[in-house]
Amino acid sequence: MRKPTRLLPVLLLIVMLLLGTSSALLAAAASGAAAVPEHITLTWEGDPATTQTITWRTGAAVIGGQVQYAEAAHSRLFPQRAINVAAGITGLHTNTGELGIHSVMLTGLKPGTRYIYRVGGPDGWSQNSYFTTAPATSRPFKFLVFGDSQSINYNVWGTTARNAYQANPDAVFFTNAGDLVDVGQDYAQWDKWFAAAKGLAAAIPAMPIAGNHESYTPERVFSMPVLFTAQFKLPPNGPAGLKGQVYSFDYGDVHFVMLDSQEGEQRQYVPDMLARQKEWLERDLQATRKKWKIAFIHRPLYNNKPGEGDPAIRKVFGPVFDNYQVDVVFTAHDHAYARTYPLYNGVKADGPVHGTVYVATGRSGTKTYKNLLAKEWHEFFHDPAAEPNYITVEVSESLLRLKAFTQSGALIDVWELKKTLTNPV
Ligand SMILES: [Fe+2]
Repeated sequence: MRKPTRLLPVLLLIVMLLLGTSSALLAAAASGAAAVPEHITLTWEGDPATTQTITWRTGAAVIGGQVQYAEAAHSRLFPQRAINVAAGITGLHTNTGELGIHSVMLTGLKPGTRYIYRVGGPDGWSQNSYFTTAPATSRPFKFLVFGDSQSINYNVWGTTARNAYQANPDAVFFTNAGDLVDVGQDYAQWDKWFAAAKGLAAAIPAMPIAGNHESYTPERVFSMPVLFTAQFKLPPNGPAGLKGQVYSFDYGDVHFVMLDSQEGEQRQYVPDMLARQKEWLERDLQATRKKWKIAFIHRPLYNNKPGEGDPAIRKVFGPVFDNYQVDVVFTAHDHAYARTYPLYNGVKADGPVHGTVYVATGRSGTKTYKNLLAKEWHEFFHDPAAEPNYITVEVSESLLRLKAFTQSGALIDVWELKKTLTNPV
């Protein structure tokens, strides 16, 4: 006997058609995107203690998007007593259809406070979720780092992300060091990436950088990483022409600088992109008074394969990291997990405080390489061919502790850096 519930969707559609109120839903369905919010992503464009940016996507015809939020302590009255904030909407042309990207930066939030929120509008609401603002004063915190998640099967990336967050529910944000997807201008891959990251990106902010694959189109030509920058709303404090993909931000005692190594892919759009970033990076690092300085760049300065890798990246950024005593630089691209000795001017430094440690982040998706190789600059090297991996970083005023884990949670590496002196700048 047919269950009556199976008739419900058909009946609903007929009713909506008759009422003429379903134009947004139909347009969204035609583009392959739903009217209800998807790809819900937390990021920070502003101060993590008092702001929270929330972004999501729908079909192109969905308007009137808004965020409803309240302090989690008052969640019993949510959403009846919620604060409503209207979202900005930007149309996004993709190879799978026309989409709407909705985004809100909540401001004036209380530091160190948990909030409940949902996003949507007349066409449908997301489930309730939560975010927590950074404390007003520096306290120890932890964040997650993922290497290349580009995959044949994005469920593998999803398992890495889920396992990492389940094992570290106290992580305050996560970052991907580039090559999130294999073909960055193929929106079908972002659908899979976000489906796999569901539960992570809506729970803690994503602060990623793009890799070379974010600049690839399905036709295998080069592009600016427009689908990356459309979805991830990041601090707009980078150099001209690279805003939203090169940026810096502070959390606790750490100053983070997020760079873009894709000169080969993007030079036709931003011809002097490395020089422009170098000038910006020097000014940015000179201005910070934070105790710890951590950088992210996709292509490694010290590679993990035969050959030289990309000497231009080392030549441009290496002296800046040396001069401003950047503590750790996370890289990706090679899909190896590796950690260098503290390096200054390309050679092993006397002690950790006098050099920069370069950490290759490994792989969080399916792609592996057969030619990974320990080099003379490596203090630790691990080929994650057998299993993907992730990294946790704990930072307090005097200690940075990095741990690398396999996807299933086995410890690969532990490394600590102690700091007792105020960083000279
Ligand atoms: Fe790459």
